[in-house]
Amino acid sequence: MDLTEPSTRISVIGAGHVGLVTGACLAQAGHIVTMVENDSARLAGLRQSPPNVPIYEPGLQQLVEHLCLEAPERFRFTDSIREVVADSEAAFICVGTPQGETGEANLFYVERVATEIAEALVASGREHFVVIEKSTVPVRTGEAVRRTMERVLRRHGKDELPFEVVSNPEFLAEGTALRDFMSPDRIVVGVESTSGAEMMRRIYEPIIKSNADGKSEPEILITDVQSAELIKHASNSFLALRISFINAVANICERAGADIREVARGMGLDPRIGPHFLKAGVGFGGYCFPKDVAAFYHISKELGYPFELLKNVLEINEGQRILVIDKLRSALWNLKGKTIAIWGLAFKPNTEDMRGAPALDIIHLLQQEGALIVAYDPAVTNVIAEAVELKDSALAAAEGADAIVLVTEWKEFAELSDESLKSIATAMAYPVFIDGRNLLEPERMRNLGFEYHGIGVRRNT
Ligand SMILES: NC(=O)c1ccc[n+]([C@@H]2O[C@H](COP(=O)([O-])OP(=O)(O)OC[C@H]3O[C@@H](n4cnc5c(N)ncnc54)[C@H](O)[C@@H]3O)[C@@H](O)[C@H]2O)c1
Repeated sequence: MDLTEPSTRISVIGAGHVGLVTGACLAQAGHIVTMVENDSARLAGLRQSPPNVPIYEPGLQQLVEHLCLEAPERFRFTDSIREVVADSEAAFICVGTPQGETGEANLFYVERVATEIAEALVASGREHFVVIEKSTVPVRTGEAVRRTMERVLRRHGKDELPFEVVSNPEFLAEGTALRDFMSPDRIVVGVESTSGAEMMRRIYEPIIKSNADGKSEPEILITDVQSAELIKHASNSFLALRISFINAVANICERAGADIREVARGMGLDPRIGPHFLKAGVGFGGYCFPKDVAAFYHISKELGYPFELLKNVLEINEGQRILVIDKLRSALWNLKGKTIAIWGLAFKPNTEDMRGAPALDIIHLLQQEGALIVAYDPAVTNVIAEAVELKDSALAAAEGADAIVLVTEWKEFAELSDESLKSIATAMAYPVFIDGRNLLEPERMRNLGFEYHGIGVRRNT
C-alpha cells in the first residue's frame, strides 16, 4: 500500500463480518479508522491485547492484531457514534439487516445509526459529512436515511448542515473476505453529488492502485444511489437464481435418467453461461442469499411489480431440503428413532457461520420425523440446535448411524481415503450416504460399501 496518499478519517459502524473486514482493510490501506460497536462483550474482546476477533475469517485475526499493535493511531475501537462523527469525514454503516417476519429487510438498526449520526452532527456542528450504506439494503433506503437525518437536523434547527448519503454495497464472500475486499472485481458507488464521488475515490484510491498491475485493476462504477442499491440485491438474487435453476434441472435429471454433473458441465462450457454457481445440491444458505432474495421480492411487491421468479427461486431452494428427507425415507422407510449423521453444519466450507445454514433446515425436518441427530463439522464447535449431539470427527458421527447426510462440502470430506471411508461404512448401522453436494464419486462410494445417493446423479454411475 502507498501510505503517502492523503488519508481519510473514517468511522465504521458495526464490527461484524463486513464492518471488521472493511475497517481493517481501510486502515491497512492507510486511512485512519475508528470502529464503533455497541455489543459490549464483542467490543471488550476487540479491545483486549491481543484483540479477540469474534468471527472465523482467514487472515482477519492476524490483520486486526497487526493493526492494533503496529498502527494503533490508525485503528481503534469505541462504542460512541457521537465521538467518532465529531472526528471523522465519513461513516460506513455496516450493521445487520436481518430478514423481517414477512420477508422484508429489517432496517431498524440502519435507522437507529442514521439517527445517531444526525444527532452527532448536531452536537459537533460538522459539515459535509458522508454517510455510506455498506449494509445490504433494499432500493430507496438511501432516501429513507436522508429523510431520517433531515428530520433530526430540523428538530434541532440545524437544517442547513450539509451531508451526503452514498450507497457502497459490499460483495465480499465469507472465507475469502480479505482478498475480496483488497482485490475486488468491482467497486460500486452510488452518489448524490460529485463531491460524494470524489470522497469515495479518495477512500478506495490506495486499494485500486495496489491492484493496478494492468490485469486486475478493479473497475469503480459511479452511479446513483438507487442503482447501486439495486446492483447488490440483483446480483445476489441472480446468483441464487443460478443455484435454484440447476437444482430444478437436477430434479429433472433424476426423473429422466440424466446426470446433472454432465449437464452442468455442458452448460458451463458456453462462455455466455460459464461454470459458476451451477452445482446441484441441498441449495443455498448463509446470512445473505436467503434474506436478500426475500427482501428483493418484498420491495418489488411494494414497488408494484411483484418479481414472482424470485419467489420460485426460494421455493425451489426449500424443496431441496425436503428432497433430502425424501431420499432418506426411500432408503430407510420410517425415520422415527433412526440416527442420522450430519456431515457439515456451517453454511459453506471455511467458515463457522451457521446463519441460514441448510443443515439447520434439514435437522429441523428430520427432528419433526422423530429422527435422532448426530453431527460433525470441522469448524463449528457450539451446540447449534436442540438435541443435536456434536461429535469430534466424521467417523465418530458415523458410528452406529443409519445414514450420513453430507451437507457442507468441506475439503476434509473430499479427501477421506478409501481406507477411512471403508471403516466409516463398516461402523454404520446401515451404510446409507446422501451426498448433498455431489462431493464424492458415486462409483467409488458404492465400491467402498455405501448405498450412495447424490442430487440429480444417475443411479447406475
Ligand atoms: N456477511 C457477509 O458475508 C456479507 C457480505 C456482504 C454484505 N453483507 C451485509 O452487510 C451487513 C452486515 O453483515 P454482517 O455479516 O457484518 O453482520 P453482523 O451481524 O455480523 O454485524 C453487525 C454488527 O453491527 C453491530 N451493531 C448493530 N447496531 C449497532 C449500533 N447501533 N452501533 C454499533 N454497532 C452496531 C452488531 O453488534 C454487530 O457486531 C448486512 O446488511 C449484510 O447483509 C454481509
